[in-house]
Amino acid sequence: MIEAQGNKGRQLTKECLEFIEKSPSCFHAAANLAELLEEQGFERLDEKTEWKIEKGGSYYVMRNSSSILAFRIPGKEPAGFHMMAAHSDSPCFKLKPDAELSGEGQYVRLNTEKYGGMILSTWFDRALSVAGRVITGENGKLKEHLVMVDRDLVVIPNLAIHMSRDMNKGVEYNPQVDLLPLFGGKEAKDAFLKMIAKEIGCKTESILGSDLYLYVRQKGSFLGAKEEFIVSPRLDDLQCAFVTMKALAKSEPGDYVTVGAVFDNEEVGSQTRQGAASTFLKDTLENIAEALGKQGSAYRRMIADSFLISADNAHARHPNRGEKADPVNAPYLNGGVVIKHHGGQKYMTDAGSEAYFKQLCREAEAPYQDYTNRSDIPGGSTLGNIVTAKVSVAGVDVGLPQLAMHSAVETAGSDDMEYLYRVALAYYTK
Ligand code: CO
Repeated sequence: MIEAQGNKGRQLTKECLEFIEKSPSCFHAAANLAELLEEQGFERLDEKTEWKIEKGGSYYVMRNSSSILAFRIPGKEPAGFHMMAAHSDSPCFKLKPDAELSGEGQYVRLNTEKYGGMILSTWFDRALSVAGRVITGENGKLKEHLVMVDRDLVVIPNLAIHMSRDMNKGVEYNPQVDLLPLFGGKEAKDAFLKMIAKEIGCKTESILGSDLYLYVRQKGSFLGAKEEFIVSPRLDDLQCAFVTMKALAKSEPGDYVTVGAVFDNEEVGSQTRQGAASTFLKDTLENIAEALGKQGSAYRRMIADSFLISADNAHARHPNRGEKADPVNAPYLNGGVVIKHHGGQKYMTDAGSEAYFKQLCREAEAPYQDYTNRSDIPGGSTLGNIVTAKVSVAGVDVGLPQLAMHSAVETAGSDDMEYLYRVALAYYTK
């Protein structure tokens, strides 16, 4: 259990840490968000069947079990779409098929490869386990199962400093050599698949496909003199994913169809069937409009009157390395929602969307801060422009400030989530 003291607004942060703890993979994150929506009366739709949508209704649809779009229809004739987007995936290691690998004749290791760009050194010497999904085939029927091995299972041991004297000056790691986790002694041979089969209650030969990943076992917690900080795996971007869906579920739409989108595969470029670069959002918006009797130019008028808030965690100024941040536009933890700007338009934000968002923040009494890269550091990219290349609406890139992005365990502020939540509620009820 996670204990939060102090500020009442931290209740939401506490809830989010619990959500992250039970979401070790993108599949679990999407399933837990679906559960949150169902508890609030959202009805699940299927892309393969015709949608019956009613005014005042709340719905969601999933693709690949890892991306989820939820939406609410206002009771009256809707203007356009008020959308907010985040991502369900985090950098980690993916298990290769037939994952067991002998180690020096005395050990069994697991064969993995990188998923996304993590800080490799942070994955050493900590308890890890395995989660994801498995597809079984029995009597000609394929069935998908979520898998979470809920115990400390594997470790990636460091080389002793005595064998690598210069390691504190920086080490280059080879993912095929240095980063393979230790699974057992030699008697553990063939145990991995049996363990997965036992987890889902099937025979090993029934397992036909798997997307399994290593995950960090450390649970999220509050720390700092006044518990003003949190440390947890996967804060990027499950914090924003949680706020996106929770605020959608808790807000009555005003003039707009409200949409919460959580996409998979942001960490590997979004170019998948379910990623932000896919047709998932466009298809869904067209399906909604069609079900409401708005085709062709009527749909395009809705798009013209739409907005997107892309919410993906942002870099806070580092307490030890302040020189890495912009001299002026450098957010700090608990300083409020971060608005991201980029001269080369890696972020969608422009004067219009910036002003619209800042006005929302003021209405919601939520602090905000501006972020730019240092001009000599290229920085990362995110979802916003990828989405708007497919569905061209005005939008703003925002996020929650954090430290150590893409570390196995990241650090953020205890209060910033509540601020983003308030802004999201104000936006969704417009
Ligand atoms: Co992110």
